[in-house]
Amino acid sequence: MKTRNVASRVRHARASVAVLAILLAYASVTGSSSTQRVDKAQFLNRLLARMSLPEKIGQLRMNYAGNVPASPAALSSVARGEVGAMFTAPGITRAQMRTLQDTAIRQSRLGIPLFFAADVVHGQRTLFPIGLGLASTWDLQAIATSARIAAIEASADGLDMTFAPMVDIGRDPRWGRISEGFGEDTFLASRAAATVTSALQGPKPGARDSLMACVKHFAAYGAVEGGRDYNAVDLSRQRLLQDYLPPYRAALDAGAGAVMTALTTLNGVPASANRWLLRDILREQWYYPGLVISDHGAVEELLAHGIAATGSEAARAALAAGTQMSMSDRYFGETLKALIERGEIPPRMLNDAVRRVLATKYDLGLFEDPYRRLGNAQDDPPEPNAEQRLHRAEARDVARRSLVLLKNRQQLLPLAKHGTLALVGPLADNRQDILGSWPASGQASQAVSLRQGLESAMGDNASVLYALGANITDDPQVFALLDDNTVNFDPRPPSALIAEAVSVARQADVIVAALGEARGMSHEGASKTSLALPAQQRELLRALKRTGKPLVLVLMTGRPLTIVEESQLADAVLLTWFSGTEGGNAIADVLLGDYNPSGKLPVTFARSVGQIPLYYNRLNTGRPYDPMRPAAYRSRYFDIDDTPLYPFGHGLSYTHFSLSPVQLSTTHLLAGGALKVTVQVNNTGQRNGETVVQLYLRDRSASVSRPLKELKGFQKVMLEAGASRSITFDIDESSLAFFNPQLQWGAEPGEFDVMVGLDSEHLQTARFELIDASH
Ligand code: NOJ
Repeated sequence: MKTRNVASRVRHARASVAVLAILLAYASVTGSSSTQRVDKAQFLNRLLARMSLPEKIGQLRMNYAGNVPASPAALSSVARGEVGAMFTAPGITRAQMRTLQDTAIRQSRLGIPLFFAADVVHGQRTLFPIGLGLASTWDLQAIATSARIAAIEASADGLDMTFAPMVDIGRDPRWGRISEGFGEDTFLASRAAATVTSALQGPKPGARDSLMACVKHFAAYGAVEGGRDYNAVDLSRQRLLQDYLPPYRAALDAGAGAVMTALTTLNGVPASANRWLLRDILREQWYYPGLVISDHGAVEELLAHGIAATGSEAARAALAAGTQMSMSDRYFGETLKALIERGEIPPRMLNDAVRRVLATKYDLGLFEDPYRRLGNAQDDPPEPNAEQRLHRAEARDVARRSLVLLKNRQQLLPLAKHGTLALVGPLADNRQDILGSWPASGQASQAVSLRQGLESAMGDNASVLYALGANITDDPQVFALLDDNTVNFDPRPPSALIAEAVSVARQADVIVAALGEARGMSHEGASKTSLALPAQQRELLRALKRTGKPLVLVLMTGRPLTIVEESQLADAVLLTWFSGTEGGNAIADVLLGDYNPSGKLPVTFARSVGQIPLYYNRLNTGRPYDPMRPAAYRSRYFDIDDTPLYPFGHGLSYTHFSLSPVQLSTTHLLAGGALKVTVQVNNTGQRNGETVVQLYLRDRSASVSRPLKELKGFQKVMLEAGASRSITFDIDESSLAFFNPQLQWGAEPGEFDVMVGLDSEHLQTARFELIDASH
């Protein structure tokens, strides 16, 4: 902060008398030297003391800058000080946002800046893989790259905050939003949550190219009953504390400046009015100092949840529970004044909430410079979608790391770069769906389809024949719900589409079928009871199989699908999720062997929707099923192989890896001590490649039943063909700790299994004992 900057900004006539007062107040507590630390508390208190009640209430409201962002109505409400922040839709320009900010600065009485927030979940202009794809990299550096670039691009578009990371543990693929998170595992999701947060915020959230992270959705939104979006969440405290809360905590420990509440109830109490969550856990146990924002309309929805009969009750319940800023809701604006005047909300509670909003703006650097990210009009990009604003190389690299090779019969992949390839399927020549849900400002016209990627990689030595083969769905009801009007539909009869694809396939040496979901099928509100591929796509695959040609399935989806039959039909299956702007190039890199796949599943693929929830770190039963000795009265389904189709952590490579036996530095771990687990990983194949060595633990006897295995460490290792490397994991009590029946956190003495493998099922086991030296 330099006083000179303040003066010059004022001289250049942006600010009104009001903002002059604020900025001078800021300068006066700052002192004239840039090296002096600003006394934040003093600044906030002084500002707060000058605010009227309506101005305070205004700060607690985040409005939606919709299709007409700087409409006269929006501007006049900003001018009246009725709005504290705006959340924006893709496509809003810096000029439009600057008009809103100019109004806040020049026309509102105190000139308090707005902050601007949006859903930048897996990229802003350059889209990276969706959350499940990022998690499939098991590569924290790659995940960090994606988030850093998202912050650089979004801050250059004028945004201050993103509603990310989305860290809801997802164990039910019927829930469309499983696509956005980092999968079913607490450890992996927590590492990803911290990585994304640090990368978004950079050295500090106030930096010009940083975004403040707003971690969501607090809490446990992913555990909605039946996978039906917005449904009730009912979880034991143990399960919550143990499995669902740590990823939020990890983001907060990494410094996330804001938290968004879930739209759901948690054990009967809506998250936005849940004191236990927002006060006991967040403030008292985790010492969280930042801002709590309700999700879109969540305060109003308290009426539908049946915990408030009026808007006034809803606003009071939310504020009293610990929500400070409401997103797109009217009741804070309409009712808080009377509630405070009647003494139903203590002034201290209001002031505390306002102080946190102001502190957020302070941390974002907006009092120092309200245009920190909006910049000056003369620097606005003439073409917001300009090609040079993209980060294609990074997107391609992260995308190829996110691809998971599920199956590769007789090493069909990689394919040769000569001959004739038949490319079919509704996702083969598609630049829209490959971007995934929450595409922010990503442009389909700038995305690379699989067809483009293959054609450019194969060059003149090969030919790529294309046919659609099937529409993404033929179900009019599903079609109608795909909300973005971008889904193409070929009106020819389904049989004609298949016939065309088969005739193309017959001319080719190999078939690549790009099948799966439209991005809108794995999105907010897109819950499904069937996880099968849409019927016509299945028919297409069967018809292709009948040609007898080698068949590769490229599966683009935002959720695990049930693909037992498809996995049998296809010789190779490459899971790509929605891989973003450079997806087509990245997939071609893997199909043609220019990149050796290294992704691993962050979520289990069930065989049937009836098995769900199916996740690797489940508890044992008293009667576990033993596939070697099947019997009645065992925990199993009668009608299906009880295992997953593809387990958590699974993912193949074009080379082959083996592990040497696990070695422990000791078999007796003293409480307070550490244990080293060492394993040698060998690349026994013909190609250089990367794999992920995974470490799991099991507590064999404790005061609560503990999972059969839990991921507690992983390392992604690059090995040249024929090379070996020794990998070491450190285990201490923190890896062994859990919440006991009294909800106390700690490790209990006794025996533990340590398991190491390249997926969650094929594991080598060793055993050690934790010894409490005091006994
Ligand atoms: C509702 C969604 O639940 C949330 O994830 C998103 O950030 C907000 N809408 C704003 O778009």
